Amino acid sequence: MCGIIGYLGKKHPKDVLLSGLKNLEYRGYDSAGIALINKDTTQIIKSVGKISELEKKINSTDLINSNVGIAHTRWATHGEPNEINAHPHKVGKITIVHNGIIENASTLRDSLIKEGVEFNSSTDTEVIAALLNKYYKDNMEDAINKTIKAIDGSYALGIICDDEPDKLYAVRCESPLIIGIGKNEYFITSDIGAIISYTRKYVLLGANEIVSIDKDGYKITKDNKEVIREVNTSELTSESADLMGYEHYMIKEIMEEPVLVNNIIQKYKDNLDKLPDVKKYKHIHIVGCGSAYYVGMIAKNFFEDDGLDVQIDVASEYRYRNIKYNKNTLVILISQSGETADTIAAMRKANDKKIDTLAIVNVDGSTIARECTYKVLIEAGREVAVATTKAYILQVLLLSLISYKINPDKEYLKDLVKLPSQLKVLLDKTGFHKKLADKVYRKNDVFFIGRKIDYAICLEGSLKLKEVSYIHSEAYQAGELKHGTISLINKGTVVFAIITDDDIRDKTISNLEEVLSRGAKAIYIGNKKEKYRNKIIVPRIHKKLQPLLVVPPLQLISYYVAYKRGCSIDKPRNLAKSVTVE
Ligand code: AGP
Repeated sequence: MCGIIGYLGKKHPKDVLLSGLKNLEYRGYDSAGIALINKDTTQIIKSVGKISELEKKINSTDLINSNVGIAHTRWATHGEPNEINAHPHKVGKITIVHNGIIENASTLRDSLIKEGVEFNSSTDTEVIAALLNKYYKDNMEDAINKTIKAIDGSYALGIICDDEPDKLYAVRCESPLIIGIGKNEYFITSDIGAIISYTRKYVLLGANEIVSIDKDGYKITKDNKEVIREVNTSELTSESADLMGYEHYMIKEIMEEPVLVNNIIQKYKDNLDKLPDVKKYKHIHIVGCGSAYYVGMIAKNFFEDDGLDVQIDVASEYRYRNIKYNKNTLVILISQSGETADTIAAMRKANDKKIDTLAIVNVDGSTIARECTYKVLIEAGREVAVATTKAYILQVLLLSLISYKINPDKEYLKDLVKLPSQLKVLLDKTGFHKKLADKVYRKNDVFFIGRKIDYAICLEGSLKLKEVSYIHSEAYQAGELKHGTISLINKGTVVFAIITDDDIRDKTISNLEEVLSRGAKAIYIGNKKEKYRNKIIVPRIHKKLQPLLVVPPLQLISYYVAYKRGCSIDKPRNLAKSVTVE
């Protein structure tokens, strides 16, 4: 869950590596480093903390002349975040950066120590470098092939070698890695976004394929046989990687929602045939992690109302469940990045059983987008903030359209075309949202209550608040509170009540009254006027579209709460945008 980048070309790598690391920082930001190489030496500079710390260090260091370099930003898994454990790691002639986890690292480490190898860090990565150094005679592909046979786990590696200062190598398995093709210059990176301002041409590296790059070009091999891979052109623009005048990516990406929602509506409202036909399946399994799973909780309500048999699970559980698949099953995998390890495993579980899989995904070319039977791209553009916002909204919208296709009704279409402007009006009321954030930002505990689809909305509202503001927040089925948790309600405890579904409105209101009578402070978000002082009333629209007007205000409130608490909004502590390890 780290970010890696490498460069070989006519330029000095410093600027390419630093701007790339800044773009990759969403993948992990507890320590970072770069390595530069020339015929005389390899220079490594590392630091703890954000890229800005590394940049300060680099700018106060005399850098060697070089045209080849690798760099890394870290999300610690093996070994605490400190300068020694930061990448790059050098053993003998070999210097590497690594994204992934080596599961048999400690066994390998013990046997290498017996062979006299001394280790500086407690990382699994240094073990890979030691293996490469052990196997490297004068042929790097051989050394890499021997090494990848010895290690178990996920990896994307950038490799340079003292004996070959004009070459850059890379290999991957599970973890994402692409090769960027520029004019007389080449890049390796975890994400095209990190090099989009230099080139949009890229090649996807397959599992256990090795690329060797020098000034004359690149060559991909697998088991010593050459592999030819297609050169793709990314749709991404450098603008989408830009803050566009906003202070944080999170608020920028929330404010992009009305336009992006409108794009999808214009694309599909008269072309439903372009969307998958879910109706033909008897059983639907919905799988995802974090917010993607919560998108699934919303979709479960849609499909159950369509009369389908739906089950939903978090991918980390689903992948290990003993599931008896009925042939007529569709497994829907929801993922923004398309690289979440648990969701990939859940997908492969179904694929291996020849069960149809449908990806609702943002990153085209990602593992989930490539390996699912069908895919629907949500076209959110690049989502930089770790806390997902626009991707969540577009995933819900596309699943809503897929559900509408099962049971078309005129009311839905009428409301659909009004949605983008209603959303814009709502999000423009920033003052409203800030006022509600004022009621929350000093709190240590917050609760969200709702029933059915409102409960699914609560789950996302609570996660958003938790992950960006570090306030302890829980979402509860409103009817469940009195079975224990209500004992936590105290004078002044903030309780968000989400009420949009008329079938259960009165029930949720009586649950809200239960907590108010114990001194709680209510914040009501719904589509019908109610007596509560702190509230947001959203336009009343079709049931299958209503969450799209309730979740954005919750995203905005979470943003302002985190802002008032001075949190690192785009890069909350301990998190990363794409969880590529189990
Ligand atoms: C949400 O804000 C978090 N970033 C996290 O819960 C995320 O939804 C989860 O890790 C799944 O990521 P994915 O959509 O890229 O698979």
